[in-house]
Amino acid sequence: MSLNRLTKRFGEHRGIEDINLQICPGEVFGFLGPNGAGKSTTIRLAVGLTHPTAGSVRALGMDPVRDGARLRRDVGYLPGELALFARLTGKETLERFCRARGLTDTTYRDQLVERFGAELDRPVRMLSKGNRQKLGLVLAFMHRPRLLVLDEPTSGLDPLLQEEFTRLLAESAAAGATVFLSSHDLDEVQRAVQRLAIIRDGTMVTVDSVEGLRARAPRTVELRFANPQDAYGLDHIPGVSLVQVDPGRVTLKVTGPLGPLLKEAARRDVQDMTATPSDLDELFRTFYADGRDDQGADVH
Ligand SMILES: Nc1ncnc2c1ncn2[C@@H]1O[C@H](COP(=O)(O)OP(=O)(O)OP(=O)(O)O)[C@@H](O)[C@H]1O
Ligand SMILES: [Mg+2]
Repeated sequence: MSLNRLTKRFGEHRGIEDINLQICPGEVFGFLGPNGAGKSTTIRLAVGLTHPTAGSVRALGMDPVRDGARLRRDVGYLPGELALFARLTGKETLERFCRARGLTDTTYRDQLVERFGAELDRPVRMLSKGNRQKLGLVLAFMHRPRLLVLDEPTSGLDPLLQEEFTRLLAESAAAGATVFLSSHDLDEVQRAVQRLAIIRDGTMVTVDSVEGLRARAPRTVELRFANPQDAYGLDHIPGVSLVQVDPGRVTLKVTGPLGPLLKEAARRDVQDMTATPSDLDELFRTFYADGRDDQGADVH
């Protein structure tokens, strides 16, 4: 799937601006960003539920604007706000969707119901949020679509089901599906996706692999020296900033490779060193807060 200079305005209001993305078959791609950033807007454009103001989408070789109905038969779409017929039971809902999609072999559907423990006998309006979401997931996956577009798929799911969902994603991608999902849960995204984008105020702040982001995330390094003076003067190294310094002891924040700092420190008499793992949460907070990456470069 590709999004090309995708732009949507709502009258005077900004929706999204100039979004460019390519997602390959077999890839799970995550889309993160604060409330109102434009995730759902992008997702609705991707499946042809709204039309772009400018730019275009290519999904499964089709243009959702022209081929929306045909495209959606081969897409598993989970909306952020699942609208179902309130009076139908889960079972009736599944049957109605199966008929609409011409799905006759229900083996896989029934396996999914089992895996997620979807509640089928009660009317949809009586279901809890999580139980409605389970039904939505079965609806999105049951026809083994080649493209999965999922708006906050795990919202409302308990931790065990979140893990089950992550396994389902991996299986679907291994079978060749293209997966595009939005989320607010960084931990889950780190486990489930290969690459991710962060969107803020309608524009992309960054797109990278999880490993790539981790390499850019800051880590905290504490060094202790025999000579009290040696703790000073290390924060001029590129990627290194000072957190705290006392005679003989310095705490630094390091972004990128540790080599330059270690070389400089090795010229002094280092007694001890501790380094925390790179902190993806902290990198995300900077993206969310001001849309600048950790190098201080504005990537808007
Ligand atoms: N139909 C609409 N009419 C006017 N403005 C809209 C419409 N849909 C979305 N917007 C605006 O577009 C922006 C992006 O909204 P969107 O729902 O895509 O955000 P989101 O990233 O999905 O947020 P959340 O995390 O809260 O789900 C917001 O400023 C929102 O107010
Ligand atoms: Mg949304």
